[in-house]
Amino acid sequence: MEYTKLGNSGTIVSRICIGTWHLPGSGSFKDGVETVDEQAFSRIFKRAYDRGINFFDTSNIYHGRVEHNEECIKCTGNSEKILGNIIKDYNRESLVIATKVRGPMADFVNGEGLSRKHIIWQIKESLKRLKTDYVDLYQIHWSDNNTPHKETMKTLNHLVDIDLVRYVGSSNVSASDVIDFMNIAEKNNYERFITMQEPYNILNRSIEESKFDVARSMNLGILAYEPLEQGILSGKYLKSNSGRVEYYKDLSKRINETSEKVLKLSEIARKLDVTMAQLAIAWILKRSIETGVSIIPILGITNEKYLDENLDALDVNINNNYMKMINDI
Ligand SMILES: NC(=O)c1ccc[n+]([C@@H]2O[C@H](COP(=O)([O-])OP(=O)(O)OC[C@H]3O[C@@H](n4cnc5c(N)ncnc54)[C@H](OP(=O)(O)O)[C@@H]3O)[C@@H](O)[C@H]2O)c1
Repeated sequence: MEYTKLGNSGTIVSRICIGTWHLPGSGSFKDGVETVDEQAFSRIFKRAYDRGINFFDTSNIYHGRVEHNEECIKCTGNSEKILGNIIKDYNRESLVIATKVRGPMADFVNGEGLSRKHIIWQIKESLKRLKTDYVDLYQIHWSDNNTPHKETMKTLNHLVDIDLVRYVGSSNVSASDVIDFMNIAEKNNYERFITMQEPYNILNRSIEESKFDVARSMNLGILAYEPLEQGILSGKYLKSNSGRVEYYKDLSKRINETSEKVLKLSEIARKLDVTMAQLAIAWILKRSIETGVSIIPILGITNEKYLDENLDALDVNINNNYMKMINDI
């Protein structure tokens, strides 16, 4: 495994992180929702750990099998609980655990957001679910326009002071808001964000324009989510419709609108003698070198075969000619 710094902190993480938004399905249903095959995820976790992965990402709202929404408030916290049941059997200090706060956790008015009240409630709940006494990286999942930025930053700083959290980061927050949060931290001597968690892959490069400058100027690492555009960049949907799209219908539209590009990318993968998933992950790692921005892909993994295949992307180097061809596509 290769290792790198988490943002500009002194903490070292694997070059690749594993996420827990979607986890392997069990095929059984409870209250109309498919349950997670916890044994299967436990095997994936162990294999990742044995291959040197130490960095895992979750969120208080993740279920592992369904998108969180208002009708499914009871689904919240499930991924954290599953991860907690696994990490209790590992040396906690060998792991770097990231989670998030902001999304709706209960249907009363303070059941969501970035207020002091909500964050202090939720960090305690996350720690219980994760069966740990601290989180390494606590991220604000997205903006909350009802809460002054200073209230959020002061609260996050407090969590670091009382040892519940080691570092803080943002996700899905606009560049101008990230700058505002960082300025508040600077002015008040609060903990600064060290990372921005953002969507980034060959088919979705919008953060290159909106966030790369901020990352460079403020020394922020980028945690790239959906590195395979939710599986589309594995190329599997060119052949069949089996995978996340079977239960996550929102994906169909994106599969249709990207199929021409994916077909062209499959030709490049064939020429390089790598799988499409490896091409997509290696491309992110190469963009990190080309742009001078620290970018760590967060992979979603539903079986051990995908894990092995995708981690082998670390040995793939895409040369400049091929980078240009991908860029043209
Ligand atoms: N901050 C945020 O708002 C935010 C948003 C989204 C995600 N995230 C984070 O980013 C993580 C990754 O997101 P993601 O799961 O969408 O990532 P992704 O890597 O783009 O997609 C992962 C999915 O692709 C499929 N796949 C992976 N490797 C494959 C392979 N070799 N061959 C064929 N199919 C393969 C699997 O799905 P199937 O087997 O089910 O098809 C897998 O679950 C999440 O777990 C979460 O931690 C954060």
